[in-house]
Amino acid sequence: GHYDNGGYEHYLLKEISEQPDTVARTLRGRIDDRFHIAHLGGLNMDARETRSFRRVKIIGCGSAYYSGQIGAQLIEELARIPADAEPASEFRYRNPVVEPDTLYVAISQSGETYDTLAAVQELKRKGGRVLGIVNTVGSAIARECDGGLYLHAGPEVSVASTKAFTSTAVSFALLALHLARVRDLSPADGRRICEGLRRLPEQIEQILKLDEQIKTLAEKYAHSPSMMFVGRVRGYPVAREGAQKLKEISYVHAEAYPASELKHGPLALINPDMPTVAIVPDDELLDKNLTTLGEIRARSGRILMIGHRAADAADDCVVVPKNETELDPILLTIPLQLFAYHAAVALGRDVDRPRNLAKSVTVE
Ligand code: AGP
Repeated sequence: GHYDNGGYEHYLLKEISEQPDTVARTLRGRIDDRFHIAHLGGLNMDARETRSFRRVKIIGCGSAYYSGQIGAQLIEELARIPADAEPASEFRYRNPVVEPDTLYVAISQSGETYDTLAAVQELKRKGGRVLGIVNTVGSAIARECDGGLYLHAGPEVSVASTKAFTSTAVSFALLALHLARVRDLSPADGRRICEGLRRLPEQIEQILKLDEQIKTLAEKYAHSPSMMFVGRVRGYPVAREGAQKLKEISYVHAEAYPASELKHGPLALINPDMPTVAIVPDDELLDKNLTTLGEIRARSGRILMIGHRAADAADDCVVVPKNETELDPILLTIPLQLFAYHAAVALGRDVDRPRNLAKSVTVE
């Protein structure tokens, strides 16, 4: 790449380390501390229209899709609008029903992913209202959308997406706040989210300080033939993104499952050679997750837990700072980026240019 790697050994590590700043840039000028709302001028949407949507459909590919899953949960939780995410690559091929009271949101770091662009074009053809959450200003997807948010995360060079992922999730928190505060989210809850958002850069800084610990853990687990990643509800998209990151750059096989689904099949895979990375936020599902850890342990599975406090059932714990429950997935993702990075380095992989992959997939 022709961008400066800023003295870091790899662009990936540079981009992971930039996140306090890139998240701050995504937030800049968009939080109103007086009314506890988000200012999102680029949506090109008045209050009446903002209130009119009865459903939100989010599309994107790969990591963009997983960040969209975090986005769908934020929108449902805060704005109480039914929302879900789907791979754009699937959406475009299944002749989707395009509804006038659905808000469509397309996500893309590059703004050039062909599957996502084709999905947006199909939506436009059928009269869909499409917003873009895009990093690259003036890209094909950004131009095709009716409005949206730019991430302002700066160019992402490494093939594996990191800072674009967190900035997309942060953008969804802003969009959810915006949709919620013209519906029935209280000023007090709006304030809670605004304050939580403002704490993110500093908390990301703290997580980056866990680098040495995570490196040691990555070196311990990197030689596993396969790894399981689990999380419940808010933890599940985090688990999927963590597994994707590991696969992409270290080539270690990884499966992501909802923690609740383990006992419906994949528990059969658990043995000492298949460690589990468990995303265990301190939320209302903590007890359920601890039960799952016990089930894994009873099958001699080793456990690396990412959460807000250590648990006896886990062999190793990475403890990250707690934010508001809705925003925690953003922070829980970061140790998994570092884990994948250090695993890939330990295995001698080409971190910034993993085999078989392109930074943006501009072909069918
Ligand atoms: C991320 O680590 C991957 N390289 C990949 O899944 C990527 O997120 C996907 O291809 C979408 O790219 P985009 O955000 O540029 O559209």
